[in-house]
Amino acid sequence: MDKIKLAIIGGSGLTKIFKEIEEIKHILTPFGVSQPLAISKVGNVRIVYTNRHSLPGSFEFAHVVPPHLINYRAMIYSLAKLGVKRIIAINSVGALRKEFKISSLALPTQFIDFTKKRDYTFFESKYYGDDEILKDLSKVKHIDVTSPFCNELISIIYNKAKEKNEVYLGGCYVCTEGPRLETPAEINFFRMIGCDYVGMTLVPEIILARELGLCYASISVITNYAAGMQERVSLEEVIQVYKSVENKLLNLLEEVIKEIPDERKCNC
Ligand code: HPA
Repeated sequence: MDKIKLAIIGGSGLTKIFKEIEEIKHILTPFGVSQPLAISKVGNVRIVYTNRHSLPGSFEFAHVVPPHLINYRAMIYSLAKLGVKRIIAINSVGALRKEFKISSLALPTQFIDFTKKRDYTFFESKYYGDDEILKDLSKVKHIDVTSPFCNELISIIYNKAKEKNEVYLGGCYVCTEGPRLETPAEINFFRMIGCDYVGMTLVPEIILARELGLCYASISVITNYAAGMQERVSLEEVIQVYKSVENKLLNLLEEVIKEIPDERKCNC
């Protein structure tokens, strides 16, 4: 059986990525049961799709778990357990600068963490026995996050995305705790310290992936201007814009999947 080349973590929607589903499964991890994992084929390539907002243990990819309650550790652990070495995450963000266009895509290269109470690490000085993923994690370790996003994946995505889409390369994603949206004062502060996009799900997803040595890139859909830059920000608007770019995203992912080489040449 071919190995699974890539994981795609979706936000709301995107289930149309399944062209040929082999199976939908769950993995029982030391952190709880995973979200549903759909092993499927895109062209000749085996991928796994999961949705961070799906209910663990369910067979549905519905948007039910809010960002602050997602079991990020079970999700990332289960992807590693499937042998995946690369993750492309899709998420929605608010833009902090008016020059960014709504419905366009962004590929952030830095992040700032303003979340408050999530499980951020696999390194908890616990003994995990001979668990193949966690056996070395009982040591004290501080991962380097100079380049938190995989440069190789980002350049593949950017080169394909710019052919047919408005896409911004680089920029800083600030992750907030949620589930409430931000105040205009918070947004002004985030802009002052150099942030470009605001969302609620990048952290600790990216950190956990990097702790397990996985490549991670984020395709962020700009769904709105952040609080104070437009009259109101609503979840309905975010979902509606996100849905409106779904086909564009699927085409892009199909193109990107074909371009990803078997061997990694990055430093992740
Ligand atoms: N703030 C936080 N998360 C978001 C936003 C926002 O404005 N838009 C989409 N996700």
